[in-house]
Amino acid sequence: MKIDNQGYGQLAKVFHWASAFFIIPAMAIGIWWIWVDLDTDSGWEQFEQLIGWHANFGLTVIILMLPRLVWRALNSATASSENTAHLKKVAFAAHFSLYALALITPISGWLGSALDGVAFSYFSIVTIPPVFGTHQDLAAVMTSVHIYSSYALIFLFALHFTAVLYHQFWLKDRILRRMT
Ligand code: HEM
Ligand code: HEM
Repeated sequence: MKIDNQGYGQLAKVFHWASAFFIIPAMAIGIWWIWVDLDTDSGWEQFEQLIGWHANFGLTVIILMLPRLVWRALNSATASSENTAHLKKVAFAAHFSLYALALITPISGWLGSALDGVAFSYFSIVTIPPVFGTHQDLAAVMTSVHIYSSYALIFLFALHFTAVLYHQFWLKDRILRRMT
């Protein structure tokens, strides 16, 4: 993954935008659910209507993030910019955490359901069975991990987006060109 002043390599860009394309709607549906009371009939109905899409988007994120992480690990490079050494460390930590959470969140979401015995039909193409059997205690733990990691992911994404806007429009260093 080439990273220099000209920007990121083609593959890095494809991985970045493809993951964002699926993470953002998965997040949007999840954020919507935060305000929905799942203990009511209408709340449950809204959950059931969207869980298929939420899971499809989220499972696609896992498929994209695994090769993306392998690629990133093999092609590690430091983003070179006008930032101070301190700011570079902050950006690295934020990017590293985004990677970790973009994997932990969908995997724990899937495990939380799978360990509860739920099978998913991935875009009606293939059925993903609950391969690990039913373990309700572990399922509850995974669901909690999913909920808290998704909150952390939402927070970091907001920070990431704000940082990009700050660079683009305040510092005017045309950061978006490095990723487009
Ligand atoms: C990057 C991908 C994902 C993001 C950002 C995400 C985010 C969220 C958020 C914000 C919530 C609401 C938390 C709350 O109720 O307070 C949620 C709930 C849920 N998600 Fe995900 N999710 C992702 C992937 C997945 C996947 C792949 C699955 C399953 C295959 C899944 C299954 C669920 C389920 C079952 C709930 C309801 C949990 C409950 O309240 O009992 N999620 N997700
Ligand atoms: C509309 C939404 C988004 C915009 C405008 C955006 C923009 C950017 C830009 C301009 C960079 C390059 C920063 C630099 O030059 O140092 C970048 C890097 C990065 N972004 Fe985003 N991004 C978005 C969504 C996301 C999402 C949802 C994630 C979640 C995983 C994410 C994760 C990353 C990571 C990990 C990097 C570091 C580069 C890499 O190793 O691939 N971005 N983003």
